[in-house]
Amino acid sequence: MQTETLLTDTETSTRETVARAVALLRSGEVVALPTETVYGLGADALNPAAVAKIFEAKERPHFDPLIVHLPNKTMVRDVAEIPDDIAKTVTQLVETFWPGPLTLLLPKKPVVPDLVTSGLPTVAVRQGEHPVFHRILKQFGGPVAAPSANRFGALSPTSAALVRDQLEGRIPLIVDGGACSRGLESTIVRVVPATPKPVIEVLRPGPVTEDDLKKFGKVVFATRNTTVEDAAPEAPGRLAAHYAPRTPLRLLESPRDFSPEPGKRYALLSYRGQEKDGYLALHPWSEVAVLSPGSGRVAEAGIRLFHLLGQLDQHGHDEIVAEPVPDRGIGRAILDKLRKASFRP
Ligand code: TXA
Ligand code: MG
Repeated sequence: MQTETLLTDTETSTRETVARAVALLRSGEVVALPTETVYGLGADALNPAAVAKIFEAKERPHFDPLIVHLPNKTMVRDVAEIPDDIAKTVTQLVETFWPGPLTLLLPKKPVVPDLVTSGLPTVAVRQGEHPVFHRILKQFGGPVAAPSANRFGALSPTSAALVRDQLEGRIPLIVDGGACSRGLESTIVRVVPATPKPVIEVLRPGPVTEDDLKKFGKVVFATRNTTVEDAAPEAPGRLAAHYAPRTPLRLLESPRDFSPEPGKRYALLSYRGQEKDGYLALHPWSEVAVLSPGSGRVAEAGIRLFHLLGQLDQHGHDEIVAEPVPDRGIGRAILDKLRKASFRP
């Protein structure tokens, strides 16, 4: 299959690209689409044959359910039930964070194919905020299932070029909407009724942080292995490969833990590129990439994480050593990704 990449850099090109993407979605095809978090691989969420093509292109196991993207907030009621005991909180979250990088787990309606939810009684829903994505959904007029547009277990792509690296020849179209403004996958939550206030359980940390969520309920972070993706049976090497570049990566929690093997080429993924953090001078690194140069901002680090990992991955290093980032705000999501990508030495 030939994979076409279409631009959205002028009004005319955008109009043509949107029309092409919508036509493909209507005919039951998959299309890689830009979102504000990472690129998604979309298909008509209500068409099981179309959804099956997502799993095929990604080589994603069928036990791993997909996120359903909505063209507007009201459509949530078409695909999901909103139980009375959490309705107030769900409405507040939707009104506050949509369109945006928050995904909610809700009981699913029968219209959603079981393939989308991997047979689970819940469906993951969000309304994204990328303008091109929004136009495509609006014209398509229905829900679009879209997981991240990577091969299963590999880095989530934050640009059209990174999608092409992974899915060329497997899908008909990549819509190039530029680099993703958030760079990390959406925060996934579920609301659990409780007194005196509801519990907001974070299943996957992301751009919407604990601070953002706490005025709507008591925020708890699900302990490890709670999204289905994590809980999946551990095939050999599967966890090691998760969210991972092809080059082995290790989160080095302390500079003292570093014991390089002679002759190996180590690259450093530094948080802010400051010698005083103890990593820069630790080793004659074959390359240093800095997530947020200067004083260090976790939000900037989040935007650049997958992009820089993707670049380091192409430079032939034997190993990528990652400095920890501060465990606050979106830093929590970054650490979560780095830990999952880390191999165990
Ligand atoms: O930012 C994002 O969320 C991106 C963009 C494209 O929207 N999408 C994304 O999708 O990251 P994906 O499929 O790579 O990650 C979705 C996660 C998986 O860990 C999956 O197991 C979990 O959501 N998930 C989906 N439906 C679920 C459900 N009903 N119950 C529990 N976990 C679910
Ligand atoms: Mg993914």
